[in-house]
Amino acid sequence: MLEVKGLTKAFGALRATDAVDLEVQEGETLAVIGPNGAGKTTLISQLAGNLRSDTGRIRFAGEDITSLSAPQRSRKGLARSFQITSASSASSRSRWRSPRARGYYSSTSRWPAWASRSRSA
Ligand SMILES: Nc1ncnc2c1ncn2[C@@H]1O[C@H](COP(=O)(O)OP(=O)(O)OP(=O)(O)O)[C@@H](O)[C@H]1O
Ligand SMILES: [Mg+2]
Repeated sequence: MLEVKGLTKAFGALRATDAVDLEVQEGETLAVIGPNGAGKTTLISQLAGNLRSDTGRIRFAGEDITSLSAPQRSRKGLARSFQITSASSASSRSRWRSPRARGYYSSTSRWPAWASRSRSA
């Protein structure tokens, strides 16, 4: 379902993610654990398309999605959620108003077909 090879993201001299390989099968749950600053959020942002990777490829449902934007990925069923999901604060309201964010959030607000399948399984 999800196949990641050699994913790297550097912020200056710091490599937040460094040649990450991982594979997730359909219906499988994979936990990414690590101490503060280990690079978990960076990895999730790379997978969702919120951060461009320096190197590496991401395949999802048999397709290379490395060059796709976050809205394009979400339309294919690859969506991320956040620890703070409330959309009612002033700062998240301003994010909703941005035309670029609107496409992303509106497309992620529906469960993709694969997610409904795995939830009912
Ligand atoms: N936009 C950024 N610019 C510069 N450095 C960043 C940026 N985002 C993350 N970093 C750095 O990359 C490293 C990994 O950060 P990241 O937020 O991915 O870690 P994390 O595992 O999610 O940590 P936490 O458990 O605290 O959420 C940290 O050293 C962090 O300071
Ligand atoms: Mg984090």
